[in-house]
This record gives sequence, C-alpha cells and structure tokens, in this order.
Amino acid sequence: MTKRIGVLTGGGDCPGLNAVIRAVVRRAIVLNDYEMIGIKSGWKGLIDLQTMPLDRANVTGILYRGGTILGTSRTNIFKDEATTKTVIDNIKKLKLDGIVAIGGEDTLGVAKKLTDLGINVVGVPKTIDNDLNGTDFTFGFDTAVEIATDAVDRLHTTAESHNRVLVCEVMGRHAGWIATYAGIAGGADCILIPEKPIDINEVCGVIERRHKRGAYFSIIVVAEGAKIIIGAKEKEVTSSSRIDEFGHVQLGGVGQELAKAIEKKTGYETRVTVLGHIQRGGKPTAHDRVLATRFGVAAMNAVHAGRFGVFVALNGKDVVEVPLSQVTKGIKTVDEDLYEMSKTFWGY
Ligand code: F6P
Repeated sequence: MTKRIGVLTGGGDCPGLNAVIRAVVRRAIVLNDYEMIGIKSGWKGLIDLQTMPLDRANVTGILYRGGTILGTSRTNIFKDEATTKTVIDNIKKLKLDGIVAIGGEDTLGVAKKLTDLGINVVGVPKTIDNDLNGTDFTFGFDTAVEIATDAVDRLHTTAESHNRVLVCEVMGRHAGWIATYAGIAGGADCILIPEKPIDINEVCGVIERRHKRGAYFSIIVVAEGAKIIIGAKEKEVTSSSRIDEFGHVQLGGVGQELAKAIEKKTGYETRVTVLGHIQRGGKPTAHDRVLATRFGVAAMNAVHAGRFGVFVALNGKDVVEVPLSQVTKGIKTVDEDLYEMSKTFWGY
C-alpha cells in the first residue's frame, strides 16, 4: 500500500532547504511507493493542518533557489500538552506513516521527542551555523561562509583606503564556525567567537601591533554570539528582549559594542558592518546543493528501510545515519586547533 510521508522545514531558513525537499521527493518517485505531503511552516503546519502536495511538478526548478517552498517557523509543539496532543491527533488525521523533518537543534529536538512518543521521524540537519552535533558539516554553512568571505574581501579594500578598523559581524549564536572560516578565508586580523571570550585589551593589542609594523587598517570578524570582556564584565549582546518558543533571545549588536570600545581605547576610527540575514538568503553554493541532495536521498532511503529515530549526517566523506538523541547532546563548537591556527595572522 502507498505510504504517506510528511516533509517539513523548521527553524531559521538556510540555503539548500529546497534542494533537500526536491531530493526527498525525487527519491520517493524512484522508490515508487509513496505519497509525499508538504507540511507548511514547520511544526506549525501540524497544529493548523496546513499542507500541500509534494510531487514532481512542485519540486521542479527549486534546486538552486534559496529559502524553502514549504515555509518555516520556530514553533515548539511541546510548549504545552494540548498542543502536543493536537499535533499527534493531526498526524493520525493526515494518515502519515512517517515524517522527514529538516531543521536544526530545535526542530530535530522536537523530532526526537516525537520519536519517543512512537512517531516515525527521520531528520535532516540544517543550519548555516554548522554547530549541530553528530554531523561534520551542515548544508547552508558553505554558502554563508562564501557570502561572509566576499564581504570581508570588500571591507579590506575600503578599510585600507581610509586607514580604518572595520568590524564585520556575522551569524553564529552558540558557535563561531562562520566567523572562523570567513575570517581565515578573508585574512581577518582578529576573529571573535562565542566559544572564546576575549578581553578588549587583547583585541586592541592586535590592532596596535599591526599599526606598529606599518599596517594602518584592520579587519575584525565577530560572531553575533561572541562574548567580549570589557572591564571585569563578560557580555553577550542582544538586540531585543524577544525570546522565541525555544527560549532563544534575539542576538545582535556585538559588532557595534566592539567598534565603540576599540575606537575609545585605540583612538583609531572604527566602523561596523552587520551581515545579518544576507548570509541566509539567496541561492546555495554548488557544494551545499550536493550535500543537501545527498542528505535528501539518504533521508528517503532511511524512511524506505523503516529506520526512524535517526538523522542523516556527514561523517568524513560518507553520509551516515545517527540517532536523533545525538543532536540534543549539546552543540558542536569550533575546532580549537583551527581557531588557534588563525591567531598566526593576528597582527603579526
Ligand atoms: O540559523 C541560526 C541563526 O542563523 C543564528 O546564528 C541566529 O542567531 C539566528 O539564526 C537568527 O534567527 P532569526 O532569523 O530568527 O532572527
């Protein structure tokens, strides 16, 4: 009998989501035993019963498109018992034999809890932040790094022309993967990440070291979640007090704080550029399209084999299946050796 499989995308969007959706659906067509149902706006679609058919026509021409044709939200269906019950009832109403959930730590955390309640879920890990446990890389990260690196390149020429310090704030809530990669690729003079709180005096020391050797401009890349120590205080900078359903506060503003502190301490003119959602929008790189496609096909293979409660992941060059419980075991922080290596270029 034909099986009905729901597909959803949850959390912040990410270049490559459409490539995964297409791959899941195209693999299902080859397996010839499935009706694919798109669930709109992440887990929210299972509260409101918002769905759409996912067939070949619906996934044509989306491989290279950013965003997600299904829409997304940061909805936590475990926020109260009534909501959880509605979702379980609606999964039954929709006669879903399984769900492919494409998302980050929160979406896959929900997937894990649903699995514990007996729902068949296969996860696909996504985040531009690349901080998910259990997979070497997530799709979307490569695209974000390309965009951030291009920005750093552009900042270089203008910083040099004006003898300015330019701070570039990139995304990265818990981990500084984008900052580290884009900083190394773009030749940043200092990289600040959430994992390594840094004293403002150290940052200014780097800039002054450069000045002493005759380089009168500097590029600082800072992850939005970085903690800067100013005086005795270690600070996480937030742009609003708004908290999402998973308890995350809206970050933003660390670049501005940093720029002010640098200018005050060194006297050098310092400006800030915040890349924000530019890093998440637009088309995925070829690398991310390939990874997303591999993940989508592997997720559908797991469904077909009846292997639920797992998410597909990159391990070296192989796509493997990892228990969903892995994703809730904390985040994947930046490789310490890589970060230490980047210091070779800090103002010397
Ligand atoms: O996707 C993760 C992330 O990019 C974080 O780095 C950032 O804090 C967050 O998304 C921003 O999300 P939103 O689009 O909801 O503001």
